[in-house]
Amino acid sequence: MKKTYTTDSASNYETNFGYRRVSRREHTTLVSDVFQSVAYKYDLMNDLMSGGLHRLWKKILINYINPRSHVQFLDVAAGTGDITLKCLDYLQKERPKNSKGFNATLCDPNNSMLKIAREKAADRGYVKGIEYITAPAENIPIEDLSIDICVISFGLRNVTDRSTSLSEMHRVLKFGGHFLCLEFSPEIIPTLAPLYESYSKHILPWLGKIVTQDRESYQYLVESIRKFPKPDILAEEIKRAGFSNINYHTLSGGIVAIHSGWRI
Ligand SMILES: C[S@@+](CC[C@H](N)C(=O)[O-])C[C@H]1O[C@@H](n2cnc3c(N)ncnc32)[C@H](O)[C@@H]1O
Repeated sequence: MKKTYTTDSASNYETNFGYRRVSRREHTTLVSDVFQSVAYKYDLMNDLMSGGLHRLWKKILINYINPRSHVQFLDVAAGTGDITLKCLDYLQKERPKNSKGFNATLCDPNNSMLKIAREKAADRGYVKGIEYITAPAENIPIEDLSIDICVISFGLRNVTDRSTSLSEMHRVLKFGGHFLCLEFSPEIIPTLAPLYESYSKHILPWLGKIVTQDRESYQYLVESIRKFPKPDILAEEIKRAGFSNINYHTLSGGIVAIHSGWRI
């Protein structure tokens, strides 16, 4: 059953925006400002920041998703549409005769990001079977029990209310539906930690400044990763939202983790 979520009703509660404690309403505005500011450089920055590694992480995620025909697919915090487009590319390349009925919904509160997603999809000829919804993960305007696969990639760290968002993603899934989350993790293997620390502290915000003229947004990225729960804690949160058979895998020395859960 869908609960009504508004940032107004939750505005008295505080949450983290990077290292700062802010009201939830302020958090929503600040995060929206971040993505508004970086939207047009977002894809380029992803490549620069990760040295292209995000492509590998997303490729692994697509293997977990296992795109196939006759699936209702929901991409939450879809941004510029990378995950959905990679699923469609995968279907076209790997399962050209069996790609009918892959219906994708991209959901994101930021219209600038979704606009780029729509343009990229149209450029590649992906128009049919794709829907775009401007909405936050906390309040997904989709019927209960209607989705087969729900994915959130580099989005859960940005939501204002993580537990409500996880419950929403659980609510919209059908029984037997699969939930996947790709996200940065604050738990890096010790041998990599000093290098990663120095990269995050000095190079990332500098890159942000050079490429997007927006140092603060990339400073937020670094801080939000450090404030994000470790993979085992996140697995607990996913369980509390109602998911079953949860497991996770860390990649690249713990820089990111993929969590998987099921609605049963
Ligand atoms: C880092 S981008 C991820 C884009 C894409 N999923 C990817 O993997 O490249 C994060 C996205 O989260 C969105 N976002 C911010 N707050 C959100 C919320 N409360 N609910 C859902 N998405 C949100 C932003 O607008 C942005 O598009």
